[in-house]
Amino acid sequence: MTETSTACGRLLVDTRDNLFTRAATLVADTVAAAPPGRPPVIAFAGGSTPQDWFRWCATTRALPATVAHGAHFTVSDERHVPTDDPQSNFGHADRLLLDPLAVPAAHRHPWPVNLLPCAAAENYRATMRSVADSVRAYDLCFLGLGDDAHTASLFPGSSLLRDDGEALFAAVEVPGKGWRLTITPTGLRACGLIVVMALGAAKAPALARVLRGHDDLPNTPAQILKTCADRVLWLVDAPAAGLLA
Ligand code: 6PG
Repeated sequence: MTETSTACGRLLVDTRDNLFTRAATLVADTVAAAPPGRPPVIAFAGGSTPQDWFRWCATTRALPATVAHGAHFTVSDERHVPTDDPQSNFGHADRLLLDPLAVPAAHRHPWPVNLLPCAAAENYRATMRSVADSVRAYDLCFLGLGDDAHTASLFPGSSLLRDDGEALFAAVEVPGKGWRLTITPTGLRACGLIVVMALGAAKAPALARVLRGHDDLPNTPAQILKTCADRVLWLVDAPAAGLLA
């Protein structure tokens, strides 16, 4: 295991199982550190990487039962599809982790994809205001890293990278991908801790661009994390870190 500092946050390089264990520990620690009477809000990342971690948590029972009733759960971005759609980020979290953990329905907060995108974002903002600390977006925000260096649904060229209107959460139409619902740059800066998990050699070029490349936010959206680097932890395996030397 190696841990170094970068302009985008602390970088931890380790084996997949050790990284999965660390991620589970961060969830449990977030619940344990929460003030009485205000369960923290934990947002999982979308995409496929979290699904392996969800299955690992369910199989290894890495998350204690106290977590199930000790936090509110959501996803840091969502495709505008029904939660029973195979593309739904919350749908995967529901089926692979929240159901096995028996998380109460009142602690599950999918984006309201039954509403039109902008109405869904507004409704979600109201929900998060009601469950989160007044100044927080999420207490713990998991993110992934796309091969094009996007994170959440902040894709290259996204208008949200230029101006998100100080909104914590927004709806954005992504060329070729349809409508997405996502935490914004302002929302990321309002999180307690941000954990980016990137695994596998396919992530190496994007990770090198983000952490070692020149500043190019419009084309390297994950560099937005430079603006909140003090609260960012990257969990990366050796293949994904392969071009960082
Ligand atoms: C999404 C995501 C996205 C994802 C990355 C990494 O909805 O697709 O939130 O930002 O985290 O694209 O995805 P993988 O884990 O599948 O590589």
